[in-house]
Amino acid sequence: MYQALLREQLEILKSSNQYRTFTTLSRICGQYPLARLDGREQEPAVVWCSNDYLGMSQHPAVREQMHNALETYGAGSGGSRNIGGSHELYASLEASLADWHDKEAALVFPTGFGSNDATLQCLLRRIPDCVVISDELNHASIVNGIRSTPNERKIFRHNDVEHLEQILASYPQGQPKIVVFESVYSMDGDIAPSPRSSRSPSATTPSPTSTRYMPWACTARAEPVSPPSWAWRTRWTSSRAPWPRPSV
Ligand SMILES: Cc1ncc(COP(=O)(O)O)c(C=O)c1O
Repeated sequence: MYQALLREQLEILKSSNQYRTFTTLSRICGQYPLARLDGREQEPAVVWCSNDYLGMSQHPAVREQMHNALETYGAGSGGSRNIGGSHELYASLEASLADWHDKEAALVFPTGFGSNDATLQCLLRRIPDCVVISDELNHASIVNGIRSTPNERKIFRHNDVEHLEQILASYPQGQPKIVVFESVYSMDGDIAPSPRSSRSPSATTPSPTSTRYMPWACTARAEPVSPPSWAWRTRWTSSRAPWPRPSV
């Protein structure tokens, strides 16, 4: 019975173009951003979506450090930090990221999806009366994080500051609110309006605290903080296949 059920579900995925197959792309060291497609020797493919925008994975200094780490610690991550403990390399990476972003501390996640999902869930569960106001084109990881909490949520039209303001104005001043949006929308490649341009009647100027993927503006109980350097974040870009996007 289960075989038939699963086969049917697979067919549904295939007929709705949601069945995923992965392209095999092997990067060619020294020829960034080229990669061999399906291991074939023919004309290499150009890959702009490897999360390696500056080609740092192939920089001689980075490769040398990787070799050193291999000799010093052996291969593998050693498992989750919850179980196997942290690592001096993670600690130093996080310290340097915190310093770079001028923050108290940083936490590195294995994937962008996991970081958005976990951060939003954690934050919203801590502030249960916080309304989350999310751009309609936010990445699935953001949608997933928001959906996994019982918090009240509202969606504003993509990049539509006026609509966002209307929603904000419909809540009392004292109600905690979080506005969630991206800087560069990775699926569509467009850019969010600067938070400086947002003049919300019911909230103070949003203060973006962001990762590359997910700047989000907090207009909760916290004091406003002026954005340190919004502009640099917008130079990032990436291209991804347009997977079906869930809506909140
Ligand atoms: C906004 C955003 N969040 C999350 C992700 C997912 O990142 P990862 O593939 O590292 O899980 C992406 C990837 O493009 C993204 O653009």
